[in-house]
Amino acid sequence: MQSYSIKTLLEKGKEVALQEVSIHGWVRSFRSNRFIALNDGSCLKTIQVVVDFDKFDEELIQQITTAASLQVVGEVVESQGKGQEIEIVAKDIKVLGVAASEEVQGTILQPKAHSLEKLREQAHLRFRTNLFGAVMRVRNALMFAIHQYFNELDFVYINTPIITGSDAEGAGEMFHVTNFDLDNLPRTEDGKVDYSQDFFGKATNLTVSGQLEGEAAAMGLGKIYTFGPTFRAENSNTSRHLAEFWMIEPEMAFYNLDQNMDLAEDFLKYVIQYAKDKCPDDLAFLAERYAKEQSQKPADERSELGLMDRLDYVLNNRFIRLSYTEAIDILKNSKPNKKGKFKYPVDGWGVDLQSEHERYLVEKHFKTPVILFDYPQEIKAFYMRLNEDGKTVRAMDVLFPGIGEIIGGSQREERLDVLDERIKQFGIDQEEIWWYRDTRRFGTVPHSGFGLGLERLVLFVTGMGNIRDVIPFPRTPNNAEF
Ligand code: 4AD
Ligand code: MG
Repeated sequence: MQSYSIKTLLEKGKEVALQEVSIHGWVRSFRSNRFIALNDGSCLKTIQVVVDFDKFDEELIQQITTAASLQVVGEVVESQGKGQEIEIVAKDIKVLGVAASEEVQGTILQPKAHSLEKLREQAHLRFRTNLFGAVMRVRNALMFAIHQYFNELDFVYINTPIITGSDAEGAGEMFHVTNFDLDNLPRTEDGKVDYSQDFFGKATNLTVSGQLEGEAAAMGLGKIYTFGPTFRAENSNTSRHLAEFWMIEPEMAFYNLDQNMDLAEDFLKYVIQYAKDKCPDDLAFLAERYAKEQSQKPADERSELGLMDRLDYVLNNRFIRLSYTEAIDILKNSKPNKKGKFKYPVDGWGVDLQSEHERYLVEKHFKTPVILFDYPQEIKAFYMRLNEDGKTVRAMDVLFPGIGEIIGGSQREERLDVLDERIKQFGIDQEEIWWYRDTRRFGTVPHSGFGLGLERLVLFVTGMGNIRDVIPFPRTPNNAEF
């Protein structure tokens, strides 16, 4: 007898009619002591199992409650009822794990609407819900597409270290890694913590980015990408920030910034298209949720486009490319700026852009994704290539509707003398990154790369509003449960 996932079984449909099959899953509902809706996580849908209760023990029937796990053997038949092509007439039912009704009542497994906050509090159970199941399957499709995309283009997937001694972004938002006894720290003569006695013989931290090591790899392998967890101890409790998130960082030797932008745009379109092709049911479900959520928002915050339209919008439009300087002009003269509607007024060249500004450009002004480039050097990292003007660097940020920055990248400074100047400006210790400087000493080449925050991409594709709802177990300030 053949064992099937519910997804495969429903795909086969009538093709398997009259066959005896075995399936596993969790009970979503048991209607009239006769119809079990069973789900196994392989897809959004449930399969209907028809139970002739005369043929089963009363005791067994009573154990078939919401959230219980079952193995069902039965015959596939064409369904009499509406809503499904096939169903299963149960011959044998095994209850693998019971779920006491009184206990289920207090959890998100109870079949009724639950808030996203409540789902988060029970993150270990939310994999059972339609909503989180759909988000996770879309996330999975995106991750697979990311690997496929780079693989098709002959990029080499490399793993950069999670424990590092450097602060790639220079923002100092790092989690320390140590095996010191924190109540009894060794000190140097001048009273500072003596890291030379620490596990690695120096101060180390969780990586904020694999880029620097990625660059070293690209200097031999040509085109590489990393895809791993990154950690930032920034205390920003927003719907766009996590303390632990997954980042995809391609790095390409011999690429200039224009080629970098071309790649970023092509890449985003490819993975979004893949998710659309692969997850139509999950996305239809998420689109419905998105529409409902939007309809409850005040008119001026409501998105004009539905979820699927928003995806198509990205797929069918060329991303606008705009210099930081041009963006500042637009923002300075924009209505919200003149009317004092921005929380951070744009008063001149050199200010860092906030997500309200990014979203204004994308959602109101251009109504298409935007790639901003050539930012002031002061507000970007040390490794970005200095332009002829001596004030801007070859940075690029890809801005998306509803999200703001989804990708950050740049052409890198490949000239050692200029790099050294920047290292000095930023107060970085030359000795510390001697190996990074070496990559500019032995056959340096123009090169570029970028970083995509996976969860920001998942937010965009699923239409979810909070980044905590698109990662299995979110890490944010004051929250490391599970
Ligand atoms: O712009 P960021 O800081 O760029 C870098 O780290 C570069 N080293 C990347 C590179 O050129 N190889 O981060 C890149 C992306 C952002 O655009 C955003 O999507 C995401 O990472 N990101 C975060 N996502 C969730 N939570 C956070 N706290 C994030 N910080 C950045
Ligand atoms: Mg950035």
